[in-house]
Amino acid sequence: MPCNCCEMENNTFGEDEAKANLKDYRRKGPANQTKLILEAVRSLGLKDASLLDVGGGIGTIHHELLKDVASEATHVDASSAYLKIATEEAKRLGHEAQVKFIHADFTDVAENLRQADVVTLDRVVCCYPDFRALLKAASSKSRTAIALTYPRDVWWTRVVVRLGNFIQRIKKDPFRVFVHPVSEMESLLNTEGLRRVSTRKLFVWEMALYQRELS
Ligand SMILES: C[S@@+](CC[C@H](N)C(=O)[O-])C[C@H]1O[C@@H](n2cnc3c(N)ncnc32)[C@H](O)[C@@H]1O
Repeated sequence: MPCNCCEMENNTFGEDEAKANLKDYRRKGPANQTKLILEAVRSLGLKDASLLDVGGGIGTIHHELLKDVASEATHVDASSAYLKIATEEAKRLGHEAQVKFIHADFTDVAENLRQADVVTLDRVVCCYPDFRALLKAASSKSRTAIALTYPRDVWWTRVVVRLGNFIQRIKKDPFRVFVHPVSEMESLLNTEGLRRVSTRKLFVWEMALYQRELS
């Protein structure tokens, strides 16, 4: 599906990047920040859950959670190269029939998707300028919980990201990284009826698990 976001993500997250990610995943398993999401989702104690993975890259989260927690997954991604690799890996693992793959900017297609028990966004909000639109759409699709990772909102991540974006500008590459304000992401998710139940930090990444409040 043609959209500005997809064009940009296709250029940034291309075939070489996808293949390298898959090689790492097969050799070493999920990346450290992804492990935090997996542990958080497993801590909910769900079985046969439905999963919506936004910007899932090579599909690590559904490859892993379809082993024990989830029985179906939807993977929406703006990068066709990542989706191709994710599909091939799902096939290899025997999960292909349980995963629906959608090539799109999630904010464009969210209203047509069914709700899922758990929505995950692993290192995705930092690739998208409008975190409000992204998280509002993600919240509307989450029945039980959202788990996400993002760069820690500290001065030195902002300095590094600003430097990286400056280099991108010199290279005339429109892709930018964002350190969105965690407090604003949190108040948006609170407004959508989700409360933070756990937070874990790595050197660069932070993982937050939000659960829907019972009404
Ligand atoms: C840094 S990669 C992370 C991939 C994977 N989640 C991981 O942690 O390895 C960001 C991913 O988010 C996707 N993405 C960013 N914004 C998106 C949007 N609005 N809709 C769908 N996918 C998006 C990109 O295409 C890319 O696959």
